[in-house]
This record gives sequence, C-alpha cells and structure tokens, in this order.
Amino acid sequence: MTPAELAAALPKAELHIHIEGSLEPELIFVLAQRNGVKLPYASVEALREAYAFTDLQSFLDIYYAGASVLLHEADFFDMAWAYLQRAHADNVIHTEIFFDPQTHTARGVDIGVVIAGLKRACVRAQAEFGLSSALILCFLRHLSEEDAFATLSAALPHREHFIGVGLDSSEVGHPPEKFSRVFARCRELGLHIVAHAGEEGPPPYIWSALNDLQAERIDHGVRSLEDASLVAELARRRTPLTVCPLSNLKLCVVNDLRDHPMKKLLDAGLCATVNSDDPAYFGGYLNANFVQTVQALDLSRDDVITLARNSFEASFVDPPTRSRLMARLDAAIG
Ligand code: HPA
Ligand code: ZN
Repeated sequence: MTPAELAAALPKAELHIHIEGSLEPELIFVLAQRNGVKLPYASVEALREAYAFTDLQSFLDIYYAGASVLLHEADFFDMAWAYLQRAHADNVIHTEIFFDPQTHTARGVDIGVVIAGLKRACVRAQAEFGLSSALILCFLRHLSEEDAFATLSAALPHREHFIGVGLDSSEVGHPPEKFSRVFARCRELGLHIVAHAGEEGPPPYIWSALNDLQAERIDHGVRSLEDASLVAELARRRTPLTVCPLSNLKLCVVNDLRDHPMKKLLDAGLCATVNSDDPAYFGGYLNANFVQTVQALDLSRDDVITLARNSFEASFVDPPTRSRLMARLDAAIG
C-alpha cells in the first residue's frame, strides 16, 4: 500500500471543517429553488466557474452568498448530512464541525433552527455510521465584539449542543485580541477555545490567539514557521495546528502544493493535522487533502501515521474516548 493509499484507508478525525463550506453547488441550487431564494448565478456550472479565488476575501464573498439559501431546519440538516456521508466515506470516525451562526441570524434565521438541523444530522451519523461529532460555534471576526457577545447570549439556551467557540472570516485587520473579552467569558462557561490565525495573518496573530484568547488549537497556523520562537512555543505547549492544504492552495497561501509547509511543520515536531476547511469550494474532502498532500510532498508512511494520530490527539474528546479512537487507528495500522 502506498502512503497515499494508507492515508485514505486509515480512520481519522477531522477538526477544521466549516459546515457552510460543505454546501455543494448542486445543493445550493436545490435549496434556492425550495426556498424561493434568487441567486446571482444562472446555473450550477456558472456558480462553479466563479470559484476562482485570489485570496481569503474573494472566497468569503462567494461563501456567504452560497449560505444565503439556508433558511429552515431541514436545510441545515440536509447540508450537514451530506457532509457526514462524505466524511464517513473518507474513513472519518470523529469530526468537530464549525458553524457560523451570524451568517444566518443576520438574515433572520433563529440560531436554534441552525443548531437543531445540524444536531439532527450528527445524531443520525452516530446511529448509522458510528461517526461521532461535535459542534463549534465560530464568531465572525469582521463583525464587532459586541455582536459576538449577542451571538453568545442567543446560543446559551443551546449550550449543551456545542463544545467550543472559534474565530473565523477575514483575518487581516481583525486580530484575535479584538475578541479578548468575549473569549474570556466563553472560557468561564467551560467552552473549548480555538481560533483561525496565521492563515493570511502574521505570527503576532498566532501569539495573540495563544495569549489573549488562550486558544487550545490554532486553525491554519501555517505562517508560524516565520517565527522560530513561536514554533518553539507551539511545540512546547503541544498546541495543535489544524492545517488545510487544498484551502491554502485555492486561496493562494501557497502557489503549488509542493511548496506547502506541512512537512516542515511535522519535522519541527508540531502537532499538525490535515483538514478540508471548505471542501465544496476548495476541490475536495478529507481524503483528497491527504492524498494530494502526501503525493506532492512525498510524505512517508510514518508521516501519514503521525498525521492520523495527531488528529485524535488534537480532538476535544474525553480521555477514554481518545483511547478508543487511537485503538481503532492502531488496529487499522496492524
Ligand atoms: N478562513 C477564515 N474564515 C473562513 C474560512 C477560512 O479558511 N472558511 C470559512 N470561513
Ligand atoms: Zn477555516
């Protein structure tokens, strides 16, 4: 078995997937028709042709437009169920799913409707596939901290349905420290803390995520390699990085997958993981990310096993669950 085949076959966790980024163009059109939402694209093909991104913002503009078709509980269920079936096909046995409530509440959708639809899909995946999942609520960083506080208040009646909070959307100009107070409140509430940092933003944004937000994981973090003292600190704390290679390629963070820093991150001893970010927009789900990265960087069998192991180490499951997930990986390695 080649390292790429092994990567595809191994059981894995996915820790950086925006559920709104799993909305395929075909489903966008089905939901637009079902809900009477007018799209600025004539066809599935025309929409797909617009997926030529130059940076994060050029993607986000289309990503938020795509999410405008989501109105009812069934829409959120259909989106999440489609993702979970794809994840299961890629041998994902645990997934921690981001959702962006402000994208929906700004259009008058109740946050309870969003969470109920996502949760129902998660329950079905556990029952049908034995695939466990959890939800992580992301604050949109281009909006104010006040807006994030209002979102947290609206979410609290549904507290048992999400395990943590994250920070996403336009990074540059919106450093983590802008959200220090709301993340402090989230920590008091016992929520797990993650944040996007170092995707397009410089190393000080990663330092801020660590020190001001006390992030337990850094989403992306690929620019950490520009600061040796930051790499040393990430290694010392064993703070995981949820890296998304095809996203980095499609958003021009790297120009070629052969230039992707994944191998350097592993060789620096960091707990790096592979994830799909927004798979409907970036050309593939988890196994596509693994296979293309393994091939482009000529990763070894040991690298692949390390990445699968890191995915479980970096997850927010409790220790007995982590042991069970690791045991499934060990059994698959043989
Ligand atoms: N970066 C920041 N915000 C996002 C992303 C991303 O890759 N995907 C969805 N929201
Ligand atoms: Zn992301």
